[in-house]
Amino acid sequence: MNEHVSCPTPAEAPVDRPNSKKVFIKTYGCQMNVYDSVRMGDALASEGYVTTEEMGEADLVLLNTCHIREKAAEKVYSALGRLRDMKKARAAEGREFLIGVAGCVAQAEGEEIVRRAPSVDVVIGPQTYHRLPEALRKARAGKAVVDTEYAVEDKFAHLPATEKAGIRARGVTAFLTVQEGCDKFCTFCVVPYTRGSEVSRPVQQILDEAKRLTESGVREITLLGQNVNAWRAAGPNGADWGLADLLYRLAEIPGLARLRYTTSHPRDMDDRLIEAHRDLRSLMPYLHLPVQAGSDRILKAMNRRHTGAEYLRLIERIRNARPDIAMSGDFIVGFPGETDQDFEDTLKMVEEVNYASAFSFKYSTRPGTPGADLTDQVAEEIKAERLERLQALLLKQQADFAKSCIGKTIDLLLEKPGRMPGQVIGRSPWLQSVNVDAKTSQIGEIIRVRIIGTGPNSLFAEPAESLIGA
Ligand code: SAH
Ligand code: SF4
Ligand code: F3S
Repeated sequence: MNEHVSCPTPAEAPVDRPNSKKVFIKTYGCQMNVYDSVRMGDALASEGYVTTEEMGEADLVLLNTCHIREKAAEKVYSALGRLRDMKKARAAEGREFLIGVAGCVAQAEGEEIVRRAPSVDVVIGPQTYHRLPEALRKARAGKAVVDTEYAVEDKFAHLPATEKAGIRARGVTAFLTVQEGCDKFCTFCVVPYTRGSEVSRPVQQILDEAKRLTESGVREITLLGQNVNAWRAAGPNGADWGLADLLYRLAEIPGLARLRYTTSHPRDMDDRLIEAHRDLRSLMPYLHLPVQAGSDRILKAMNRRHTGAEYLRLIERIRNARPDIAMSGDFIVGFPGETDQDFEDTLKMVEEVNYASAFSFKYSTRPGTPGADLTDQVAEEIKAERLERLQALLLKQQADFAKSCIGKTIDLLLEKPGRMPGQVIGRSPWLQSVNVDAKTSQIGEIIRVRIIGTGPNSLFAEPAESLIGA
């Protein structure tokens, strides 16, 4: 799971309906929150809300928040300060303006949010947002509602089915949450506390949602979970299915051209999932497999429950099965007790793996996690210095990977209009943005292109057909 990966952009603006109320949803954090924001929009549609991209015209503003690092959580309170002023201005005009806080800060801080920001009307956790309409109705009666229980009912069963078109035209790529929560308890991480323990959605629910998405034009689905490869559920005839079985089944859906999944834990990468990378053409050759650190001592202190050598061996097996797979990862520098030597081990690990892309962060102490009780915290300047060195290396690897694509002919899924007229932005099998001359009417098609150059964050390509006879 990564909170910096861009989300699919809807191909068209939301459909407006006269007299409907408008909700503006601001999403912080990871792809799971991006997915939840879409589903909150679905839940609110039944209350007559349409989504807007303009906060200024909203009757309801929802902040779907992230608690992963201190800075992420602080952003919420500064946004709430601005919203309080908007609410006052609206009250003077006699217009309703409701403020809701959802997501992981809501789950972690609950009532505290209303104490610090009394203008908030609703605080709702990631497991209860299907109850949003009810919470808003209660809040209109004048008292703030805080609902952060781990609901006993299955929220997915209570949400309206994903709309085929309607309120929001979906893009050609979509997220689909199949698993939530985490039982791993890495000592730095808040997720097991904000998202609860591991829960897998049932097979049929996932297949139905994937079919509905495909029927509305989606060509690529990314299965999501805080520990997506820990997904397990009963398959047909009660067989015990893991993520690989689900992928084999999804690959049979007509029109669904591409599959991805994120985020995986190295401990849950089983043989069958590796085989799926070998067998399934629609399973894209890109894998986000965070390791966090290269030193065994730090991996142990982080409770990652694998060594550096085990991780490298795993990558070797994955690459043997799918030689063109691009690896991605997450790293934390400055975990308590990390020495210069430990950090050098992380750099060495990065050199050995050679990542196509990766995310790296300074360790942020999170209240309530075991890491917060460790006494040998690393000084801020050292963290900053290490992060700079690590990021320089990762950026170089990313640029080298992009350069290695020049001259290759690849399949490109055309996703959205480019910045220049006559240009369309597509996505490569390795998740890179690629600019190519094409018609916007081709969005949703997969075309053959040849990579001809690289830019700072994207690649340039020409249609491969134009090479015929050239
Ligand atoms: N389930 C995912 C993690 C989601 S959090 C996984 O295991 O990969 C995304 C990333 O945020 C983590 O991989 C980690 O690199 C980073 N992160 C989590 N807690 C952090 C903390 N306290 N300080 C800094 N980075 C953190
Ligand atoms: Fe957090 Fe570790 Fe669980 Fe990932 S596996 S969500 S890093 S506790
Ligand atoms: Fe995601 Fe942030 Fe919650 S990374 S799971 S939104 S703490």
